[in-house]
Amino acid sequence: MKQEDFPILKNNIIYFDNAATTLKPSCVIDTMLQYYLKYTSNIHRGVCDMAKLVDLLYENVRFKVKNFIHCNSAKEVIFTSGTTFSIHLLVFGFMKYYLKKGDEVILSRGEHASNVIPWLVLAKEIGIVIKYVPLNDNYEVTYDYFLSCITSRTKVVSLAHVSNVIGDLRPISNIGKYCRSHHILFHVDGAQSVPHVPIDFVQDNIDFLSFSGHKMCGPTGVGCFVIREDLLSFLHPVVYGGGMNASFSSDGSFLLEDAPLRYEAGTPPIVEVLGLGMAISYLEDIGLDVIFHYEEKLKKYLIEKLLLLPHITIINQSFHSGIVSFVVDHISSYDVSKCLSDFHICVRAGSHCSKLLKEDNIHSTVRVSMYFYNTYQEIDELIRVLTLLPDIFKIVES
Ligand code: ALA
Repeated sequence: MKQEDFPILKNNIIYFDNAATTLKPSCVIDTMLQYYLKYTSNIHRGVCDMAKLVDLLYENVRFKVKNFIHCNSAKEVIFTSGTTFSIHLLVFGFMKYYLKKGDEVILSRGEHASNVIPWLVLAKEIGIVIKYVPLNDNYEVTYDYFLSCITSRTKVVSLAHVSNVIGDLRPISNIGKYCRSHHILFHVDGAQSVPHVPIDFVQDNIDFLSFSGHKMCGPTGVGCFVIREDLLSFLHPVVYGGGMNASFSSDGSFLLEDAPLRYEAGTPPIVEVLGLGMAISYLEDIGLDVIFHYEEKLKKYLIEKLLLLPHITIINQSFHSGIVSFVVDHISSYDVSKCLSDFHICVRAGSHCSKLLKEDNIHSTVRVSMYFYNTYQEIDELIRVLTLLPDIFKIVES
């Protein structure tokens, strides 16, 4: 479905690396091109017509994000360079001031580096204690395992909604409900879910949400940090400069703008924000429910086919996302990935930045991550090549 919207697919590729980044439809590329061709301007500074137009277009995207993830106000939406920076703002702009030595933060062993390393730095800086939700036999985070980590010192829970390697959809509604009723702050890393699964910031009792534009048909270099409005007054900027100050003087005094501009110092990723806005409209036209259910069907189909290949071991067989990781007997994941590339099939190999999974004996995997523009025929081609692998490598080795 929708393959014709993606010019890059004319180049005879099968693209199964959507958890790394997604392809961009023509409407997003055109939106960005129009900015460069017709109304290039900085924002929140100029008074010429072009600048005023771009101000409007840029701020309009904030409302689109608000409606897309269902938070209360556009003021809660801060544009960042992506999920990694969003989590930096959370950890070094909020948690550094909120948490005290001995306070406990819950992560899981299935988290991406960007939702682990900032917390490790904070642990070194102020002595917070990090606890990791253990993974069940399918390497999933379950509600019960989450509960087993809670103590009277638990102050924050920070979890991916969908893991980028295992692809499990975490029970964030239940976790959010528990956290809200126990005065625990809840951050959701939505990098792998916001593009694929309908999410409701308010109903799911989320306090902070991070995600990236480039994983949802938008450009690289833009993402969002969404924060509950009543928490905004406790959020410190982590970058200072133009656009975010109201005044400053040589006596050392300065005043900052209100949120969200307070957190968007310097020239923001203007054209990227406009591209993100178009990506959101594009995804809304298709429908997040439609995307989610189509990916579930693709995944079910892929897993049924993979199960017929005796040389392949699937890491997790749950159907609720488009991510499937597996290993191939006697062939390294990098060799598999390189070989698939020779057949114009793009997948990712390795630890996928989730290196704590080693502690659960998941080392290097081949990851197929699908999106709504993938097809059953593409899966058939992938399976055809995977079937050939033992023979191809026998020939190479002999
Ligand atoms: N976080 C991205 C991935 O999982 C880059 O591939």
